[in-house]
Amino acid sequence: MGSSGIIGLLGVLGLAAQFTNAQLEPDCNPLKAVCEPKKALFEENYYIDFTKQSSPPSGWTIANNEVINFTPNGAEFTYGKKGDAPNMWTDFYMLGGRYDVEMKIAPGQGVISSAVLWSDVQDEIDFEFSGNQFGQKPFPPQDGMWSVETNIFARGKMWDGAATYQKDTFKPAEQFHKYSVEWDEKHMSWYVDDKVVRSVQAKDTPSGFVFPQSPMKLQLGVWGGGDPDNNHWTVEWAGGEIDMKGAPYTMLVKSVNITNKYPADQYRYTDKWESRFH
Ligand SMILES: *[C@@H]1O[C@H](CO)[C@@H](O)[C@H](O)[C@H]1NC(C)=O
Repeated sequence: MGSSGIIGLLGVLGLAAQFTNAQLEPDCNPLKAVCEPKKALFEENYYIDFTKQSSPPSGWTIANNEVINFTPNGAEFTYGKKGDAPNMWTDFYMLGGRYDVEMKIAPGQGVISSAVLWSDVQDEIDFEFSGNQFGQKPFPPQDGMWSVETNIFARGKMWDGAATYQKDTFKPAEQFHKYSVEWDEKHMSWYVDDKVVRSVQAKDTPSGFVFPQSPMKLQLGVWGGGDPDNNHWTVEWAGGEIDMKGAPYTMLVKSVNITNKYPADQYRYTDKWESRFH
């Protein structure tokens, strides 16, 4: 950590960033404006056990007008009625490292559960789940094999589309599993129960993309991808229209463990290459 605890990032501005659908929108995008420095995770490690909380813990922000309950089951993200989108995210950013989330996804056709790292320049490293396996037939899978969907956005551009990887015999809507993402200047890897399901090397970055290298916050949540008012493609992707007769649909998160590779007081975007990442 430098004495100021501030590090700079992002040299090559002036890139034409394209902003696509379904992207999380930052309050201030440093590619478009001068933004305040962001609070960083100062510790190397942050761990929280949501089963021991009875109210929203400090260090997290819950989306406006949404409710997340904290019970001995963990943090409960419930899709109970049309329009619900319970989400919460860390108040702090991390730069490289790893997170582990112990969770059980929400069941239900078209109901999307997610654990997403995302940044103010709209880099994203995603785990996404749909309660009916994105409409894969038959459902539930006869061989008991579910697959994982991962996704990368680089400055708002979808890298390779929603990619499904390595089927395995886990039942994400019935059992708790540990989902992890590890990333740094060289690679991104996704794990289920400590088994790697996908890995991407920075040297293999497709042309026209920038390997995600900006400070990220972790967001957890559920939303109605299969809300019939969404556009056709979103509903299709989500696995079809949500059947409210089976509601409520709840995702449970037991714990989150974050390791920050480059702890600091804050992260500031600059127009010079000073990144610890290079
Ligand atoms: C959190 O993750 C770190 C790094 O993987 C690990 O060393 C530590 O034991 C974990 N903490 C808990 C409470 O699981």
